[in-house]
Amino acid sequence: IYWGNSVKYPGWYVTGYKEAVAILKDTRFENRIPLPQTSKKYEHLKNLQNDMLLFKNKVDHKRLRTLVSKLFAPNVVESYRPNIEETVNELLNEVQNEKRMDLVSDFAFPFASLIIAKILGVPVEERHQFKEWTVDLIQTIDFTRTRRSLADGNDTIRILIDYFRELIEKRKLNPQNDLISLLMKEEQQGDKLSNEELLATCILLVIAGHETTVNLITNSILSLLTHPEQLVELKESPLLIEKAVEEFLRYESPTQMTARIASEDIEINGMTIKKGEQVYILLGAANRDPKKFNNANVLDITRNPNPHIAFGYGIHFCLGSSLARLEAQIAIQTLLQRLHNLQMATPDLQWRKLTGFRALKELPIT
Ligand code: HEM
Repeated sequence: IYWGNSVKYPGWYVTGYKEAVAILKDTRFENRIPLPQTSKKYEHLKNLQNDMLLFKNKVDHKRLRTLVSKLFAPNVVESYRPNIEETVNELLNEVQNEKRMDLVSDFAFPFASLIIAKILGVPVEERHQFKEWTVDLIQTIDFTRTRRSLADGNDTIRILIDYFRELIEKRKLNPQNDLISLLMKEEQQGDKLSNEELLATCILLVIAGHETTVNLITNSILSLLTHPEQLVELKESPLLIEKAVEEFLRYESPTQMTARIASEDIEINGMTIKKGEQVYILLGAANRDPKKFNNANVLDITRNPNPHIAFGYGIHFCLGSSLARLEAQIAIQTLLQRLHNLQMATPDLQWRKLTGFRALKELPIT
C-alpha cells in the first residue's frame, strides 16, 4: 500500500493481494459515485447512479442486493446456456466465410450486448438497435475520447434510459419471463424495487456486464494465441475450460482497478488511511502477487486452486460472475471448435488507454 501523488488520481494505491482483500471486505471503505457531481459529462447517468447497487453501502446495499441476487444465481444462469450457445453460433455464421475478422468488434462486442439484451427481454426486432446503442455507450465511457464523442455518449445514455423506461412500462402491463419482469416481481418481506431502482439496475447491468465480458473473451483468446502449447492442450482437453477461464481472469484481469473511500480513519499495515481519502485497489496487480500465487507471471490453464479477485471481493463481489463465466466458457470453446488454425493477423496490438480496464482496441485474427 503506498500513497500516489498523481495529479488526476491522488490517493492510496493497493497492489498486494492480502491488503486488497482486507480493504475490500472492510465496509468502512465505501464505494461512492466517482463522477464529479458538477461535471457535464454523463449528466443523465449521474441522477441514476444514486440508485445503483454498486454505489450503495451497508444496509442500503444489502437491501438492493437481496432483491436482485436470486436472479443471478448459478442455477438461473445455467438456464441461459442454450441462448448463449445460439448467439455465439449465429455470430460465427456471419463471419465464417471471411478470411480475417476483428474479434473485438465482429464478435465480442455484439455477443456481450446481444446476451444482455436477450436476458433483459429486449424484443428480437429491437436487439440490433439496442446493440448499436450499447456499443456506442461503452465506447464513449472512455476517458481518452474527445468532447464531441462525450456529448454523443450523453445522448446515447439518454436514449437508453428512455428506452428502458418504456420497456419497463410495457412489462408492467404485460409481464414476460424476462429479467425486467422478474426483477419487477421480486419481493422480500414486502419490499420491492422502486421504478427508479429498476431502471438504474437495467443500466448498471448493461454497463457492468458489457465491456468486462468483451475484455474477458478477447484477453482469453490473446492469452491462448500467445501460449500456443496451452491452446493445443485446451483443444485436446475441453473439460479444462472452467479452470482455464479462471486463469484468464487472473492473468489478464478485465477489471484492473476499483476504488473506495475511507468513511473514518482506518489503521492498516501500520499506516493510517484518513477519513475521506481515496483508495485504489489494483485487482490485476493483486492477482499477480507472488506472495499469493506461485509463478504469478506465468499463464497456467490448469492452475488449481486459483483464488483470484478479478470479480472483486466482499459485499460488492460481482453480481454477474456466474453469467460472465458461462458466457466466456461457451464463447472460447466454440471459437476454438469452429475456427481451425486460429492465428493473430498482426503482432501489432494496441491497448485502450483506460485506467480501470485491460482492453484491446482490436484483435485481428485469421
Ligand atoms: C461488480 C468484475 C461481468 C454485474 C463487479 C466488481 C468487479 C466486477 C471487480 C466489483 C466492483 C467493486 O468492488 O467496486 C466483472 C468482470 C466481469 C463482470 C471481470 C466479466 C468478466 C459482469 C456481468 C454482470 C455484472 C456479466 C451482469 C450482467 C455486476 C454488478 C456489480 C458488479 C451489478 C455490482 C455488485 C454490487 O455492488 O453488489 N464486477 N464483472 N458483471 N458486476 Fe461485474
